[in-house]
Amino acid sequence: MKTPRAYYQPLAIGAPAPYRELPTRLERMIHFVPPHIEKMLAKVPDLIESVDVILGNLEDAIPADQKVAARQGFIQMAQENEFGSTGLWTRINCLNSPWVLDDLLEIVPAIGNKLDVIMLPKVEGPWDIHYLDQLLAQLEARGGIERPILIHAILETAEGVKNVDTIASASPRMHGMSLGPADLAASRGMKTTRVGGGHPDYSVLSDAGHEAARTTVQQDLWHYTVAKMVDACMSAGIRAFYGPFGDFADDEACESQFRNAFLMGCVGAWSLHPRQIGIAKRVFSPDPNEVSFARKIVNAMPDGTGAVMIDGKMQDDATWKQAKVILDLAERVAS
Ligand code: GLV
Ligand code: MG
Repeated sequence: MKTPRAYYQPLAIGAPAPYRELPTRLERMIHFVPPHIEKMLAKVPDLIESVDVILGNLEDAIPADQKVAARQGFIQMAQENEFGSTGLWTRINCLNSPWVLDDLLEIVPAIGNKLDVIMLPKVEGPWDIHYLDQLLAQLEARGGIERPILIHAILETAEGVKNVDTIASASPRMHGMSLGPADLAASRGMKTTRVGGGHPDYSVLSDAGHEAARTTVQQDLWHYTVAKMVDACMSAGIRAFYGPFGDFADDEACESQFRNAFLMGCVGAWSLHPRQIGIAKRVFSPDPNEVSFARKIVNAMPDGTGAVMIDGKMQDDATWKQAKVILDLAERVAS
């Protein structure tokens, strides 16, 4: 029998590869479905056509008295649909909750052969990944599951951020990591009441007397954590994602938060509402102007070495690599 590590594929420039092939080549949005709600399950066939990844949520936002219904709804959703090239994920309950053991004991035997990724919330350190890794190995062996189920960690506790590097490389099952700004804000004692996004008071004021009128510029509350997460993920060969954006009425702010994450190296974000699907698709696909400029660079430097001037800007081996990141993504979007 193959060990999980035998599925590992080396990392290509700009195209992080998980240790086994996933059905989807893109993961621009992880679309959350609450599987305890019957009318939401009815929408799943249409959603499968329009998203890169569909996720049955069992954790936060599911009321405690609906946890069993959500688990059963997710199993039913997985059994009744064909997912084709759309990824099938679930977010299980956290490891110290009363529900997680049954989540795993029921879901893996029932639909383990269809499930691509388990999202694990509130990961504090590599020990949480090791525990899930071993439990999955046991359940897969017992249930005759043919392909290893991958693990995606949510980075949403101060302890988790401290241990982000060791979490990212804790197991060959690691698929990636998402920022969980709401839980992280609480864990850090931040003075906010939001699910992701910025805050008007987190800003920098220009110096007094420096300009005729003082101006403030809002800062990105999540810059530090996203940067730290991207470095941890890329150096471990896994993928980084921005998480949720809770203000469904503010598409502009959602797009801006997603775009910051995209530019910083994230490959996708969560969509909690159907209107965020299109935003994520647009943001996490490369800008056509960037693609044509990247093509100019690669065409001007076919072997990726040397230095050339394009439109007045110096290009060299390093910009060739940046261009490859954009072109590889454009190719995946086009295929
Ligand atoms: C997501 O789970 C978050 O806490 O932001
Ligand atoms: Mg959370």
